[in-house]
Order: sequence, then structure tokens, then C-alpha cells
Amino acid sequence: MDVHSSYQNSDARVNHLSLDLKADFDKHTLSGTATWRVVSNGADVLYLDTRGLDIHSVKDENGEALSFSLSEDDSVLGSALRIENIRDVAQVSIAYTTSSEAEAIQWLEPQGRSPFMFTQSQAILARTWIPCPDSPGWRFTYSATIRVPNNLMALMSAENPTEKSEDGIYHFEMKQNIPSYLMALAIGDVGFAPLSERAGVYAEAEILDKAAWEFAETEDMIVAAEALYGSYEWERYDILVLPASFPFGGMENPRLTFATPTIIAGDRSLTALIAHELAHSWSGNLVTNATWNDFWINEGFTVYFEHRIMEAVYGSSYSEMLSALSRTDVIEEVEDFMKSRPEDTRLKLDLTGRNPDDGVSRIAYDKGYFFLRLVEETIGREAFDAFLKDYFQAHRFGVMTTERFLDYLKANLLSESQWEQIGVDEWVYGKGLPGNLPQVESERFALVDQAVERALEGNKPEGTDEWTTHEWLRFIQGVHAQLDTDGRNTVAQLDQWFGFSHSGNSEILAAWWQPVIAHKYTEAYPQMERFLIDVGRRKFLTPTYRALKETSQIEVARTIYEKARPSYHAVSRQTMDLLLG
Ligand code: BES
Ligand code: ZN
Repeated sequence: MDVHSSYQNSDARVNHLSLDLKADFDKHTLSGTATWRVVSNGADVLYLDTRGLDIHSVKDENGEALSFSLSEDDSVLGSALRIENIRDVAQVSIAYTTSSEAEAIQWLEPQGRSPFMFTQSQAILARTWIPCPDSPGWRFTYSATIRVPNNLMALMSAENPTEKSEDGIYHFEMKQNIPSYLMALAIGDVGFAPLSERAGVYAEAEILDKAAWEFAETEDMIVAAEALYGSYEWERYDILVLPASFPFGGMENPRLTFATPTIIAGDRSLTALIAHELAHSWSGNLVTNATWNDFWINEGFTVYFEHRIMEAVYGSSYSEMLSALSRTDVIEEVEDFMKSRPEDTRLKLDLTGRNPDDGVSRIAYDKGYFFLRLVEETIGREAFDAFLKDYFQAHRFGVMTTERFLDYLKANLLSESQWEQIGVDEWVYGKGLPGNLPQVESERFALVDQAVERALEGNKPEGTDEWTTHEWLRFIQGVHAQLDTDGRNTVAQLDQWFGFSHSGNSEILAAWWQPVIAHKYTEAYPQMERFLIDVGRRKFLTPTYRALKETSQIEVARTIYEKARPSYHAVSRQTMDLLLG
């Protein structure tokens, strides 16, 4: 039962999609047909999800018109497409055009640069560009023909070209069953560079070489991941580097991870994000959360898996920094949520009547991670690894609810006393953070914490030359947490020592704006404004605008937002509109 999809009202099922769409960069629309193979199960009516689609006609396999209607539009769910008399029908072909405001899609025509478009379907935005069963609990295969302007390449979450076609027509095939939120399309003037036999990267020409260097260790990650939890089921693993307005860090579209360019730091220090999206090839894409209430089944497992991949490739001194940062994040987020929305600190969510996007928080990721880490610590790594490998194998190309996972955990891994010792029910269904939250010991961070003390005493810390991004993040967070109200001079001093405001590293910049804003270090505001205009990644935007709002600088926030908003994707715009009124 998925409260975010009308497809649950359908007894009829669909199992294969063939798309034929033309991309119009002038009108900002996709138009053409979506043809679904139908298994009617004797039912007369098929329901599909749509939002903002202009449906021209619905026909069966003989070209005969089928009658259809659209339910009243809901601002989050859109409207259900009800197709009738399908009892003896083998396929339905829906002719339609997307709205130029389709929320999944961003159309970009930057001055003097090539046009670009991309989709972001998760959580329930696939329905804004394809009439579909838009629920993670249902899977289908697909093929597609996409028509684009000459000189551009089209790419999908499917078998992809590596070169541009002469005529702007591209054919795609996805043979594995996937849920709708993994439907993805991007069109741009991109090139391809191989990283290994089965991995590669697509990007616009000016960053292709940099991207290929940054992601050179992708194959090592795939090898490490397979050694942990079984073979990679999707044949190829490629990465598409998107424009900076991409609202997420990464999106695990099967065979083709979509990634923000802000992880290209020049030193390979932000590639944990690749490990994360790669890990979704198992946790998420192979075993999928049944509904958005079970989101932690996707993300908690993926953070756990991500850290294990990073540990295998770079060692535990590295992965424990990631875990320590997760720990700080989740403690902060839980503290914050307990004041305003305590029920959202549960792993199992109840998003009835809400936008599933509301469920996207550090809870699913990091509370989910620490729950699984606690299970590992309780029963030992070897047993847990064997369990996880079997879990992925047993449920491959299937869906998972929280309850079914707990049943499986009880049946296959934990004794009753271990269950009690961990406090499984409290972790999954309880609010806040249980008292047995695992500890993380990071020697490298212990050194950073000493450096924080030194800096707060007014002395320049030493030994920072060898630091990587994560140590700088810990340092900035540590100083920020301890600075008292008259910390402005310290902020200025730090900037003079380390040049944070001019860092080329987006994670460091985003962390740095926190003390900058708290202490009204306005010297750095021009750089902050530049960053907010250039980058559309929501994880960076939300805390920055929020900090401005919470320190009585909402006018500064609004002025910047007004300039930046036109270049943001709808997903980021929606969040910032709510935040800034
Ligand atoms: N699948 C998510 C992105 C997502 C979640 C999109 C929910 C829409 C709704 C992706 O795998 C993800 O978690 N991305 C993170 C990166 C990560 C390293 C934590 C992000 O974008 O920051
Ligand atoms: Zn994820």
C-alpha cells in the first residue's frame, strides 16, 4: 500500500514501457507516446499517475481509442489517469506532452553555452514526465526512442551511446526491472571517457578530463563492492556529470549515476559520493524500499555500504572520518527535529498526506547507518556480511518493507537476546536516538580537535598541510560549535590563515558559511553569494539560507535568492520557497 500512488487502485498491471519522445528546447517540453504492456488480470480499469501532463489520446494495440479521465489535480500527487475497458487489451499507448514547468525536468540554456536538460524522478516526480505507476513498489523494463537537436547526446538509465548520433535520434534499452523513480533522461553536449572496461564518465568537454581523473578509482570501488555483497547486476557503471544546478549530490540512476560537478574537488577527496551511488546498485536498485515510508531501507543500508566500500579501498582511518561526520550530523538533526517534528526522527516514517520529499533527512541516512552498524558490532562483521550478501541475493529485483526486513533479521540473524540488547524496535519505531548509539573513534579527528583548541586560543594550528577535506570539515564545525558570540575576529583570522572563503572545495565552502553567517563576517558575503548563485545542490543551500534566516538576516537571504532562484531546479526552489517565504 503506497499512499503516494494511484496505481494501488488498479488490479490491472503494466510490466514494460516503450517511450517515444521528442525534446523541444524552445518550448521546454517532451512530447510523444508512452506505451505500456498491460496484464489486465481480468480488470476493466487501469490507473496510472500523472502530474501536469497534457494527455492527447489513449489507444490500444490496434489504434482504437480507449476512454480515459483524469482525477482532480492534487498539488503533490497530481492526477490519476483512469483508462477504461482494458480487460482484453494488451497495450495502451498514451500520447502526451509534458508541462514546461514539469518538476522533474530542468531545461538549461546558459549564455554562450550548449543547452542541457536533465530529469530527477525520485521521489514522485517521474509522473511529471511519464504517465506511469509512480510507486517504488512496482517494477518494469523499458525501451525508448528519444529525439533531440543535432549535436546533443541523449543518455538514460539504460544502455547508453558513447558517441553522438548523426540524426539526433537515440535508442535505449533497460532489460532489468526497475521502479519509476529510477527513470532518467539527460540531454547535452557531452563526451565520454572510459574509466575501465565496465565504467566510464560523461561530461561536457571542458570538465571531461578532470572528471575522468577525479573518478579514476571507480573500478576499485566496484571490485570492493562485489567482494562484499555479490556481483554487480547492471553490467556497466557510468557517471554523468551534470550542471551545478543539479539539486542533489548524486542520484543512483541504474547504469548511469547522475552527479553534481561540486564533487570534482581536484584531489579525489569527495568520491565517497560515488561509493554511495554505486552502493545503491544493491541497496535501492536491487532491493527497493516498498514505499517512501521505508526510505531508510534504501538510504541507511547505502550509507553503511558506502562506508564499507571506502574502508576497503582507502582504509578505516578514512572511513571512520566519514562515520564520525555522520554521527555529528545525526545528533544535530535529531536535536533539531525533536523540537519541531519528533515523529520524523523514526526510521519507519508515516508520510500519509505529505510530500515524500519531507521524509528526506539525515535520519534515514545516518540513524539508519548507525542502526546497521550496531547490528554489525553486536554479532560480528563476518556474520553480518554473510547475512547482507544473502539478503541482497534473496531479494534481488524485489521490494522490501521495514517489517519484512525485521522479520528476515529475526529469522536469519539475531537471537531474541541480541534483538533486545540492540533494542531493534526502539531503533526502528522509536523517536530520537537510543542510548546505545555506536561510538566512533577517529585518530585523525582527535588531532583535528586539538587543532580546534589551538585556533580558539589564537594560535595557528600546525600539521594541517596533510589534511584532506574531511579534516577541514571537522575543524570548521568544531570551531563553529565552540565560538562564542564575539567570534568575528576569530573567523577573520581563520580566513586569513586558511583562505576558506576562496576554497575551491564546495563542501568546505558550505561548512564555512556557517561561522561566516553566525558572526556576520560580511567580507565573505560576496563569495557566499557567488556560491549560492552558481550551485543548486540543496544540501548546501538549505543550511546556508536557514542560517541567514535564523540570525535575522532573512533580507540578505531573500536578496540573494531572488538572483539565484531562476537557475535552481524545481526541487531546490520548492524547499527554498518554503524556507524563505
Ligand atoms: N537517492 C538519493 C538522492 C535522493 C533522495 C533524491 C531522495 C530524491 C529523494 C541519493 O542516493 C543520495 O542519497 N544523494 C546524497 C549523497 C550522499 C553521499 C548522501 C546527496 O545528494 O547529497
Ligand atoms: Zn542515497
